[in-house]
Amino acid sequence: MSQTWWRGAAIYQVYLRSFADGNGDGVGDLAGLRSRLPYLKDLGIDAIWLNPWYPSPMADGGYDVADYRDIEPVFGTLAEAETFIAEAHELDIRVIIDVVPNHSSTASAWFQQALADPGARARFWFRDEPNDWQSIFGGPAWTQVADGQWYLHLFAPEQPDFNWADPDVHREFEDVLRFWFDRGVDGFRIDSAALLFKSDTSYEDLDEVHDVYRRWREVADEYGERVLIGEVWLPDQERFARYLRPDELHTAFNFDFLSCPWEPAELRRVIDLTLATHIPIGAPPTWVLSNHDVTRPVTRYGRADTAFAHGGALHGSPSDAELGYRRARAAALLAMALPGCVYVYQGEELGLPEVEALPDELRQDPMYVRSGGANPGRDGCRVPLPWSGDEPPFGFGDGRPWLPQPEGWRKLTAEAQRADLGSMLNLYRTALGLRRDLLGDGTLGWLPSGPDVLAFTRDSGLTCVSNLGTGPVPLPAGTVLLASGPLDDATLPPDTTAWLTTPA
Ligand code: NOJ
Repeated sequence: MSQTWWRGAAIYQVYLRSFADGNGDGVGDLAGLRSRLPYLKDLGIDAIWLNPWYPSPMADGGYDVADYRDIEPVFGTLAEAETFIAEAHELDIRVIIDVVPNHSSTASAWFQQALADPGARARFWFRDEPNDWQSIFGGPAWTQVADGQWYLHLFAPEQPDFNWADPDVHREFEDVLRFWFDRGVDGFRIDSAALLFKSDTSYEDLDEVHDVYRRWREVADEYGERVLIGEVWLPDQERFARYLRPDELHTAFNFDFLSCPWEPAELRRVIDLTLATHIPIGAPPTWVLSNHDVTRPVTRYGRADTAFAHGGALHGSPSDAELGYRRARAAALLAMALPGCVYVYQGEELGLPEVEALPDELRQDPMYVRSGGANPGRDGCRVPLPWSGDEPPFGFGDGRPWLPQPEGWRKLTAEAQRADLGSMLNLYRTALGLRRDLLGDGTLGWLPSGPDVLAFTRDSGLTCVSNLGTGPVPLPAGTVLLASGPLDDATLPPDTTAWLTTPA
C-alpha cells in the first residue's frame, strides 16, 4: 500500500467487547479478534479501527481510560496487542486505535493523585463552584469531591475532563502517540476531538485545539504513513474543515452522511456539501453509515423518519424490517462508490438490526442510566456478533455474551450468510473487492437523472445509480457489475443501487 493508503481505504470498526470472545468469559477480546482476522481479510477491508482497548472500569465502554499505555486485562495483554498488530500487518491490514484526549477515568493515576492532593489538580478542571453546564449523557457536568471542590466531566462522572491549558497534558498525549506508533499502530481515531479546550462560556471547537493537532501531525509525520482521524461533530462545515487543513488531521468522520435521511434531495445535498468541503483542501471525504453510538441502519431505514439524531427519540418507533434491509443494502453500495474512505461498523456487513428489546437491567450505557431511562442508550447496536450455529451465543465464544443476542439471529450468522450468495455479507464482500480496483480516492461526476435518482460516474468509468423513488427507473447504459437487489430487465427498482461499467 502507498503512503496515502488512508485516502481511499475501507476501514472496519471493531467494538472489541462484542466482536469475538476467545476465553469464554462472555466479553470479546484480542484472542477472539485474532482468531477472526481471516474473516476480515476475506471481507476485503484495508484497516481495522478498534474502540478503546485500554485498562478501564468500563463506565463508558472503555472511553473512561485508566492507563493509556496498557491493555484492559479482560481484552488481553500488551504483548498480545503487539502480536495482533503484527498478525494484521502480515495480512496487509492496518491497525487504527482510539485515543481519548478530552477526558480520563476517575481510576487513572493522575486523577487519584488529584483527589488525594488538592495541590495536584491542574491537569483536570477543578473549581470551587460549578457552572450550569449539563453533561452530554444527561445530568450536571460537575461532581463534587469530599473536600468540597467540583470537577468537570462533559460525559459520565467517571470521565473527568483534562485541562488542556496544562503543559503536562500536552506532553502526556504526545508521548502516548509515540508509545503506540512505536508498537506499529497505523493511526489514531481521536475521540471527542473538538471538545478539548474550555472557556468560561463554551467547550466546543475552541481555536486552541488546532495547535494540538498541528503538533500531533508533526509527530505522526515523523513516523510516515500514519493517519489521524477526528471524531468531530460540528454542523458548521467551515469550522469542520479547519480540522482537515494540510498540517492537521488527515480525515474525519462524515456524520452528516450518517445522520442523513434516506431521501434523494437531502442525500445529494450532503454529498455535494461533503465534496465541496473536502476537495479544495485536499482531504479525502469519508462515508459512514453506522458506528457504536448510533441506531443500526437496517432499523433506521425501515422507519417513517429515516434520519439519525442523538437522543433516542425514535427508539421503538415502528420499523419495516424488509424495507430497512433493502435500503441498507442500497445505501451500502452508494457509500462504497463515493470518493474517499468508507467505514463499516462490525455487524453492518451482516445486516444486523438494532436490538431494541434488551432487558433494562442489562443495559450498560451511561446514557440510559443518566437519562433516568428516558434514552435507551447505545447498547442496542453493541450486541455481540453472531458467527455460527443455531442458537446463542452463535459462536461468539463459549460463555454467555455480556448482552443477549436475539434468537432470530440464527439467520444472520456469518456462517449462514457465507453460504448464501444473495446475503448482505456477500454483497459487502463483492462490493469491497470491486471497490479496491475501481473506487476509493478520487472525484465523481454527476449524471443527469430524475429527482429521485442519484447517478454518478467515477474516474475508473464505474457508474453508480441509486433509485430512492417509489417506482422503477431506467438503468443507464452499461454492464451491471453488482446490484443491491434484483433488477427487472433494464430497470432499477425502488430502494436499489446498481454499479455498472460505462460503455467505451
Ligand atoms: C464518542 C464515543 O464514540 C462514545 O462512544 C463515547 O461515549 C464518547 N465519545 C465519550 O468518550
